[in-house]
Amino acid sequence: MVTGGVTAWLVAGAVGPSVFHAHMAQAGSPDGVGSVVHAEEAFRSASVFSLAVALGAALLASLAVSIFLTRRIGRSLGTLAAAAADVAGGRLDSRVPADGMGSEFDELAAAFNQMAGRLEASDGLRRRLMADVAHELRTPVATLSAYVEGIEDGVLTLSPETMAVLRGQTSRLARLAQDLAAVTQAESSELELRPRRMDPGELVVVASDSAREAYIAKGVRLEEQVAARLPSVAVDPDRMAQVLGNLLDNALRHTPQDGVVRIRAGAHQAGVVLSVEDSGEGISADHLPHVFERFYRADTARDRVHGGSGIGLAITKALVEAHGGSVSVHSAGSGQGTTFRVFLPAAGGSG
Ligand SMILES: Nc1ncnc2c1ncn2[C@@H]1O[C@H](COP(=O)(O)OP(=O)(O)O)[C@@H](O)[C@H]1O
Ligand SMILES: [Mg+2]
Repeated sequence: MVTGGVTAWLVAGAVGPSVFHAHMAQAGSPDGVGSVVHAEEAFRSASVFSLAVALGAALLASLAVSIFLTRRIGRSLGTLAAAAADVAGGRLDSRVPADGMGSEFDELAAAFNQMAGRLEASDGLRRRLMADVAHELRTPVATLSAYVEGIEDGVLTLSPETMAVLRGQTSRLARLAQDLAAVTQAESSELELRPRRMDPGELVVVASDSAREAYIAKGVRLEEQVAARLPSVAVDPDRMAQVLGNLLDNALRHTPQDGVVRIRAGAHQAGVVLSVEDSGEGISADHLPHVFERFYRADTARDRVHGGSGIGLAITKALVEAHGGSVSVHSAGSGQGTTFRVFLPAAGGSG
């Protein structure tokens, strides 16, 4: 403000009188005549007076605006700084209220809140994951140490039955470690896909061929159905085999003897849908929205005996989404069978 005032003063002082003098000369007033000298003097003092008043008023006005703006920005920044300090201190539920601080600040506040929200969600996920892993580890480790202690104390002998229990528990631990690594990889962006242009029918045939033996052993019929003239899809064949293998494995596990499982490939909008439908025990409506969550088991007691850790469908979902597709599940309820669907976009380009 001071710089502006001094500049205006100097420039007006330098320019004004000479311009006025030039005008007087043009009007035909000779230099040094009394009336002209008086007019120039009058101009100078009028300019000084009006400039002083104008600069004073401008100073006051800009001071008022500056104070207002500084306060407002200060208040907004203070709110933001407090929220940032909260988040840094671990209170991840802290948010900045969006109360019309101006569009830049509102954007900043929204971005901050979004960041805090994501931090909070991933922190929650991390906690749940740790709790779930601890829970999964507890049972096999407890069983193993009880058996080892029993053998040490001579209460148990290393009979084939004891060995079978030990082996069962160690392989459960090994499978858990494997699943954890797989789901972490599948859900991270590190997942390396080697997509190839594939015929959806071929995916179905490969998947059902590898599952067939287990189906025959349990006495569950496995039917394939592939629609004609399906567009090809760009998928990593190994990952897709893993996806369909998971679904077929689940379907077999939850379908009683003499049941039927159908694996199909059909057209869906601009892409393809692969579905696995079973006539088995079904999933009740309250469990249905959660089956794709890590460690989720609809029937904990029974599935623990079956040996699943509830990670399979989380891996399935992550793998399909990495391909740009999506998954869905439908079940009319207990005893009504279940259908899982995998939607994949058609491969781009021709052929
Ligand atoms: N075809 C199915 N029929 C009935 N329930 C199913 C089916 N597939 C999955 N589920 C339920 O969803 C849960 C999660 O499945 P999944 O993630 O593969 O874990 P897991 O097979 O290790 O138990 C299962 O525990 C089961 O309760
Ligand atoms: Mg499974």
